[in-house]
Amino acid sequence: MNQRTAIHDRVLNAADKDELAAAYAEWAEGYDHDLLDELGYVAPMTATRLLTSQLGERSARILDAGCGTGIVGALLHGQGYTQVDGFDYSHEMLAKAREKAAYAMLMQGDLMARLSIDDATYDAVISVGTFTCAHVGPQALNELVRITRPGGCICFTVRDQAWEEDDYRGAIETLVDSGDWKRLDEVEAPYIEKEGSDCRICVYQVAR
Ligand SMILES: C[S@@+](CC[C@H](N)C(=O)[O-])C[C@H]1O[C@@H](n2cnc3c(N)ncnc32)[C@H](O)[C@@H]1O
Repeated sequence: MNQRTAIHDRVLNAADKDELAAAYAEWAEGYDHDLLDELGYVAPMTATRLLTSQLGERSARILDAGCGTGIVGALLHGQGYTQVDGFDYSHEMLAKAREKAAYAMLMQGDLMARLSIDDATYDAVISVGTFTCAHVGPQALNELVRITRPGGCICFTVRDQAWEEDDYRGAIETLVDSGDWKRLDEVEAPYIEKEGSDCRICVYQVAR
């Protein structure tokens, strides 16, 4: 069953960053309703559970990379995590995230470029729905590793279609072989139920 909306199709088929940003500017207002209330977007809940099962203190400093409207930040905040920062390219999605009052700090920027964040800043990074078609590719993983402290965790989803098309396995194994991270968990899980889509949810620990 595929009930994907026209605007959802637009973001998954955007030709470039400008087209993607324009589509998210339009979608920001209705995004949570469309995905959570109508389509059964379950990946944020599953990924948050997999990440928090690896975390100790509620004071962990966490980056939500590609935070969008703040669905993941709200889940973490609801569980008592108080040091969650959000990062996204879309000003309009960030404005919706700000309304949730779940983030310590929100930043605008491009995950495909070098980030203006110091090495080893975060105890954990979570990224849900952002490693997907026409969004962010596997090369962005290197920067997430750089900004995570040794021993910290990175949890990210990859839409199945992108997993096949963009050689995520190769990028992940390159980081394993270079000793940059090791695998803690990796599962296939439902992504958007009414779309009938699945994703990989990967949890990796940055090397000490
Ligand atoms: C499908 S939404 C996911 C948002 C949120 N994590 C969630 O699960 O609802 C993808 C988000 O990635 C952001 N994004 C896409 N390309 C990006 C890039 N190069 N740098 C930063 N954010 C990007 C979009 O603006 C959008 O908010």
